[in-house]
Amino acid sequence: MTQRFQDKVAIVTGASSGIGRATAVGLAREGAKVTICADRNVEGLEETRQELEALGAECLALQVDVRSQAAVESCVQQTRERFGTIDILVNNAGTGQFSPFPMMSNDEYDRVMDINLRGTFYFCRAVLPIMLEHDYGKIVNVTSIMGEIAAMGQSIYNASKGAAKLMTQGIAVDVAGRNINVNAVAPGMVVTNMTQRMFGDKERERYFVERIPKRRIGQPEDIAGPILFLCSDEASYIHGTTLVVDGGMLCTR
Ligand SMILES: NC(=O)c1ccc[n+]([C@@H]2O[C@H](COP(=O)([O-])OP(=O)(O)OC[C@H]3O[C@@H](n4cnc5c(N)ncnc54)[C@H](O)[C@@H]3O)[C@@H](O)[C@H]2O)c1
Repeated sequence: MTQRFQDKVAIVTGASSGIGRATAVGLAREGAKVTICADRNVEGLEETRQELEALGAECLALQVDVRSQAAVESCVQQTRERFGTIDILVNNAGTGQFSPFPMMSNDEYDRVMDINLRGTFYFCRAVLPIMLEHDYGKIVNVTSIMGEIAAMGQSIYNASKGAAKLMTQGIAVDVAGRNINVNAVAPGMVVTNMTQRMFGDKERERYFVERIPKRRIGQPEDIAGPILFLCSDEASYIHGTTLVVDGGMLCTR
């Protein structure tokens, strides 16, 4: 097993389940010390922590609501105090949209935009001074194919992920000339807590599978692998890009 992240320090948000957990496990398996955080699913976060420690990795688990600037900055500070620096940030925490556009309340708009966009803004801004200081950093923001195209009932989710993609590009431009890579990964359909209701019955699952050229719904590890690649030095000339990881779904649109 290669150890691409030996002694690197990483933060993974939304690591209590799904793509975030698979990413944290992958980083730890290859040598990283990892701060994992999430807002409410404390049991899930604890399970991830146990998985990482079973791999022999050093791990800091923190309850963080990415919508809170104070909580985000405290997470970054605690990580630095515990591990000395921060090399890798994976902004994975995210939420879906629960109302179609005509029924969107201001609160629902704020919830979706604040978790998916503001949280990414807070975390990127908080870690960049540390990355600039030691002139090394990898940031991967998890967007969505729903940031590339629109779908019914997804208007503000589309907006949040499309904006996160463009913010990724903007940050990439702003750190020009430094040894820092800023990219996004846009998953297609993945079986996680966020989507499990959609795939609940066989009929609906078949509907989606028929629209995916790879003819299967993704697993969290299908997304974690490309995220790890972008966190690695193999990807040091990839900058400001959104890597679509969707089993070919966008090709059919
Ligand atoms: N599952 C899919 O099909 C799919 C497709 C495209 C993009 N994505 C994106 O992948 C990312 C991970 O989602 P997932 O599918 O693994 O779902 P998930 O529900 O398993 O994970 C979401 C994570 O985000 C955390 N989170 C939610 N709100 C938070 C907040 N306010 N503060 C801190 N953490 C918070 C949750 O605790 C959880 O750990 C999200 O950004 C999502 O938009 C998922």
